[in-house]
Amino acid sequence: MVTLLENPFRTGLRQERTPEPLILTIFGASGDLTQRKLVPAIYQMKRERRLPPELTVVGFARRDWSHDHFREQMRKGIEEFSTGIGSEDLWNEFAQGLFYCSGNMDDPESYLKLKNFLAELDEKRNTRGNRVFYLAVSPNFFPPGIKQLGAAGMLSDPIKSRIVIEKPFGRDLSSAQNLNRVVQGVCKENQVYRIDHYLGKETVQNLMVFRFANAIFEPLWNRQFVDHVQITVAETVGVEERAGYYESAGALRDMVQNHLLQLFCLTAMDPPNAIDADSIRNEKVKVLQATRLADINNLENAGIRGQYKAGWMGGKPVPGYREESGVAPTSTTPTFVALKLMVDNWRWQGVPFYLRTGKRMPKKVSEIAIQFREVPLLIFQSVAHQANPNVLSLRIQPNEGISLRFEAKMPGSELRTRTVDMDFSYGSSFGVATADAYHRLLLDCMLGDQTLFTRADEVEEAWRVVTPVLSAWDAPSDPLSMPLYEAGTWEPAEAEWLINKDGRRWRRL
Ligand code: BG6
Repeated sequence: MVTLLENPFRTGLRQERTPEPLILTIFGASGDLTQRKLVPAIYQMKRERRLPPELTVVGFARRDWSHDHFREQMRKGIEEFSTGIGSEDLWNEFAQGLFYCSGNMDDPESYLKLKNFLAELDEKRNTRGNRVFYLAVSPNFFPPGIKQLGAAGMLSDPIKSRIVIEKPFGRDLSSAQNLNRVVQGVCKENQVYRIDHYLGKETVQNLMVFRFANAIFEPLWNRQFVDHVQITVAETVGVEERAGYYESAGALRDMVQNHLLQLFCLTAMDPPNAIDADSIRNEKVKVLQATRLADINNLENAGIRGQYKAGWMGGKPVPGYREESGVAPTSTTPTFVALKLMVDNWRWQGVPFYLRTGKRMPKKVSEIAIQFREVPLLIFQSVAHQANPNVLSLRIQPNEGISLRFEAKMPGSELRTRTVDMDFSYGSSFGVATADAYHRLLLDCMLGDQTLFTRADEVEEAWRVVTPVLSAWDAPSDPLSMPLYEAGTWEPAEAEWLINKDGRRWRRL
């Protein structure tokens, strides 16, 4: 656990904390993530006065850019992907803290050049040797980048230097273990911030508040009352321009091992002893350790993959996955995955968790639905249209909120029932738009709070859970055996079967 005393980045016990002056170095600074997400998020925090004036950002990439060119690119990103520049004075002040250093990720000389440059900036900007290194690069650069940072002595101070690693963290259990070994070879776990941007979403953080700041739900949150849980992350986008990456990843690596399993952990874990990074992460690891695919011997009872074929989205024809640019015409990369997980512990024994995610689904929607057991005896049998079990749905995005479905008597002299919803919506209750996940994550990292970042053992356990299906699907297979679904429709029939055979149905969202 990082305490206030150990942690020089913290400035005290104020609720709205401000990080200490520091230099954030972004590797992969000429890439999309930096321009679309990272720098706009930092600028927004600057506008909100959440950052110290000394905060300095150094972009590191191969291209031979000048400081001014980097500043122009970042300005474009802020204008296009966030709420804009606002005051020119503010932008000028921010731009004075933006610098660029060109270099090669596997060249030791480049790191020495960067190290000297950062030392110069420390003098100029009074950043006191505090460093955050953000690896926003392709994953094959993670090991050399981390090793070189270590070799250049840039991670040797466990208090003043931190490293942020983007996803994907490995491509299976053994590569994740190898990457963890590389990381642990040059720094301590409390310096490492493995990003899963789902943990930065307000609604995901609210899951813990909802569960552990309210007394009435926790007693129901177990096998006695819950029939099953459905976690859905549906996207309308296709593979876009990312075939190069996606062809070797697929939905299981891209979405399930990280985002969906994080949603699963926060839903299924036990209450932590305290709201600090290690207490929470210990509980997440514990629940993952108890989790397995529903049927290891017959994987089709536990995991279904699918791939979108040509169809219609918003009234326009869209190509199938195999027709997308950069995708092999015989590709068996899944763009859809459904899993059935079981958790072998006292709380959840026998309660299935159904997870599904897909691209080119009819709607962009992410939610966690807790479906409760049916009433033991339906005394309104003659008048109720059917016994509709209660469902608590936590809407992650869009229309962020929570609703509880229950039966109510319809007005009138006859006794008739209908299913209704009790609804909480973030928008109408708080009147503010939820912030982008990267704001929160960048700020937490600058403040030295690891709660919303995944720990080494957690990442490895998540890989372990998906390994049996990963290995089966990675083996060469006949493209004709791939379950297909039309773009703009929900899951393939095989995924319907995965849940229907248990007498349950996917929610229509
Ligand atoms: C990313 C995946 O991690 O998450 C993308 O690589 C996916 O494929 C994206 O589209 C979804 O994020 P969000 O925040 O839009 O749900």
